[in-house]
Amino acid sequence: MRRILLDNVAAGMKIAKPLFAADGKILLNAGLELKDSYVKRLKEMDVSFIYIEDDLTADIEVADVVSDKIRMEAVSTAKSIMDNVKVGKRVDASQAKKTANSLVDELCSNQGVLVNFIDMRTKSDYLFSHSVNVCILSIMTGISRGYDELRLRDLGVGALLHDIGKISLDPNLLNKNERLTEQELEEIRKHCQYGFETLRKNPEINLVSAHCAFQHHERYDGTGYPRGLVGDEIHEYGQIVALADVYDALTTDVSYRNAVPVYEALAIITSGVGKYFAPEIVTSFTSNIAVYPIGTVVRLSNNEIGVVVDITKEAIHKPVVRMIADAKKNRISGIVEIDLSKNSRLYIADVMER
Ligand SMILES: [Fe+2]
Repeated sequence: MRRILLDNVAAGMKIAKPLFAADGKILLNAGLELKDSYVKRLKEMDVSFIYIEDDLTADIEVADVVSDKIRMEAVSTAKSIMDNVKVGKRVDASQAKKTANSLVDELCSNQGVLVNFIDMRTKSDYLFSHSVNVCILSIMTGISRGYDELRLRDLGVGALLHDIGKISLDPNLLNKNERLTEQELEEIRKHCQYGFETLRKNPEINLVSAHCAFQHHERYDGTGYPRGLVGDEIHEYGQIVALADVYDALTTDVSYRNAVPVYEALAIITSGVGKYFAPEIVTSFTSNIAVYPIGTVVRLSNNEIGVVVDITKEAIHKPVVRMIADAKKNRISGIVEIDLSKNSRLYIADVMER
């Protein structure tokens, strides 16, 4: 399979990964051949890219850190918890714990697997899929830091519900496309406090999980909000969720800018080490992310074009690339693969499909 921008998608292409709605229903299934009407529908839903099958990459299977099924169950649980809070009900802690537990189980049994998929989503379910992504990324970071299952679960619950305070904000403010005034920004920043209050009064939710909501916009150097905490004053869970939150936001299309490729998001994060993020948290976090995810089309330093087909934790910047075209843009016939970890002359110069 190969990742392709929606602008380049055409009728006749075959979908390689299912696209789900926030309620867990499949919008487009894997194996389906696209028609013009589907392409139009994808554009209406603001999907920015999809995975397609083609002859060259048909044999490439990508192991994701969690299965589509578990991911979608988590997204629909996040939605139902937040929908309940919206109508004044309390947070269903047992649902949140169940979801965190199933993600912890899945991630613990898939250790060694890198985050390879940039998950496909529609803009309307952003809050829920963002919550689940932050949860997955946070738990993975916790695993890298040697947390036991109990700590992973508390971290997971906090990460899943870190933005729950947004439910208390005016939806018009949250969805506003124009530049926000200082007063509006001030209002949005209150979601940390709102989320903390919502979670704190629930006796079934551990206080450290509530602090993830309170602290996920704090920054290592004290420039964050709401309290401007510095360094170790920020709970480690809060630091992890903050980093996962930034990473997921960067790699997602939002109203005011397009998603940046993974390698660029990682470069932005690395430039904030010691400033916005603690070095050891960044190290644990980045050890789980495929800098050039499988399915990404890349240009090598010799100008040849290929698609990333394999990557390991040992050589995170140097994947195996299957060649598509030579430097003169002639299609390469047959399967030619270059393992960049074994080739010291070549490196990835650019990512082609953004
Ligand atoms: Fe937030």
